[in-house]
Amino acid sequence: MGLCLLVCIISCCFISVSSQSAVAGNDNNSVVEGTVFIDGKYSIGKIDENSICATLDWWPPEKCDYGTCSWDHASLINLDLNNSILLNAIKAFSPLKIRIGGTLQDKVIYDTEDNKQPCVQFVKNTREMFGFTQGCLPMHRWDELNAFFKKSGAEIIFGLNALTGRSMKSDGSAVGAWNYSNAESFISYTVKKNYSIYGWELGNELCGSGVGTRVTAAQYASDTISLYNIVKKTYSSIEPKPLVIAPGGFYDANWFKEFVDKTGNSVDAITHHIYNLGPGVDTHLIEKILNPSYLDGEARTFNSLQSTLKSFCNFSSCMGMLSKQVFGSAWMASSYDTKTYCRQSLIGGNYGLLNTTTFVPNPDYYRYSKITDTGRLL
Ligand SMILES: *[C@@H]1O[C@H](CO)[C@@H](O)[C@H](O)[C@H]1NC(C)=O
Ligand SMILES: *[C@@H]1O[C@H](CO)[C@@H](O)[C@H](O)[C@H]1NC(C)=O
Ligand SMILES: *[C@@H]1O[C@H](CO)[C@@H](O)[C@H](O)[C@H]1NC(C)=O
Ligand SMILES: *[C@@H]1O[C@H](CO)[C@@H](O)[C@H](O)[C@H]1NC(C)=O
Ligand SMILES: *[C@@H]1O[C@H](CO)[C@@H](O)[C@H](O)[C@H]1NC(C)=O
Ligand SMILES: *[C@@H]1O[C@H](CO)[C@@H](O)[C@H](O)[C@H]1NC(C)=O
Repeated sequence: MGLCLLVCIISCCFISVSSQSAVAGNDNNSVVEGTVFIDGKYSIGKIDENSICATLDWWPPEKCDYGTCSWDHASLINLDLNNSILLNAIKAFSPLKIRIGGTLQDKVIYDTEDNKQPCVQFVKNTREMFGFTQGCLPMHRWDELNAFFKKSGAEIIFGLNALTGRSMKSDGSAVGAWNYSNAESFISYTVKKNYSIYGWELGNELCGSGVGTRVTAAQYASDTISLYNIVKKTYSSIEPKPLVIAPGGFYDANWFKEFVDKTGNSVDAITHHIYNLGPGVDTHLIEKILNPSYLDGEARTFNSLQSTLKSFCNFSSCMGMLSKQVFGSAWMASSYDTKTYCRQSLIGGNYGLLNTTTFVPNPDYYRYSKITDTGRLL
């Protein structure tokens, strides 16, 4: 199966290159022709059976960058779950993994029984980290989301609030242990309701030098072990248990080495993010996508991560990875044994697979769905 996927992706790449040049309006009519030979005897990497994944985020409509407010009502809190295009777009992948998370996930509280604070939404405030106040997930919304996920057959990877309980230092770091009490009762609620979760992921972009703030590898390892123990306890009579996933941030060789070493068997999948092409508003985006040196840069990251993981554990049995960003990277990632590839985003932002207002699939949706060889929609 892995081999078949690679073949499909290679042919997609060719289609995409020629159509992208046309879009770029390049007067240069020279067409590069060539022949590709595929050695079908062995594969260069193995991916999960359901390796395709897309993300849903927390950003409220007030989130604006570069003069555009690109999220509209695409947040977990306000997404229209009755929209049939949305439902069918997810169903067509059968199953699509959905990674729930993003910058604001680390400032979310869950309105479970133990919560003593009012359950209010994110409010724009430039003095706050990430530009918004703390937000809250009401349990009736979590119920609606799970009813929708079940109907659409999605497999959910939920990113937990890893900044809870830490204090911010003037050097930009976040110190102290993760206070998991609210997350623990949220996981208990989820188990009690029999909601199916594929993986619990700890934190978003807090590893290495972090985005906004950072947590040391030693502290993160200890917090991930706490999460592992919570999952083991809460799901004691349930098999299979959800995966414990971390750290969901940019790759930093020393940080990742220390983290993997200290976490040992208490983590099932290692995740990292890539934004090698920069922000979605970049007017040179198409030229960048067509420039092989950007993918070469990515290859160095994948290569280094792969050797870090190999040197610390039984790579073939215990690790998977997720990442996000532009298409061609998915092939690259597979060739370095990345098991699952999450595309930012399913909907919302400047680069969603679905149009944020109409929910109609953008061209990339079809390119992406082709990887699963289903391609069935509506
Ligand atoms: C045509 O494209 C090739 C490859 O990108 C480039 O080397 C060449 O300079 C281009 N020629 C013109 C006339 O733009
Ligand atoms: C979605 O459908 C449910 C049940 O049919 C209904 O109660 C709810 O108001 C609808 N929500 C929206 C946003 O239309
Ligand atoms: C963790 O947070 C809860 C509130 O959610 C609080 O009651 C508890 O004391 C905190 N635990 C620690 C160790 O600070
Ligand atoms: C829980 O969900 C699983 C499938 O997700 C189902 O097979 C099982 O019957 C459910 N159990 C209860 C008690 O509802
Ligand atoms: C590593 O994983 C392979 C495949 O699952 C297994 O056969 C082997 O025994 C494992 N080795 C160790 C040292 O755990
Ligand atoms: C979404 O679709 C609408 C209607 O076709 C269109 O005007 C808008 O530009 C699209 N949005 C994006 C971000 O492509």
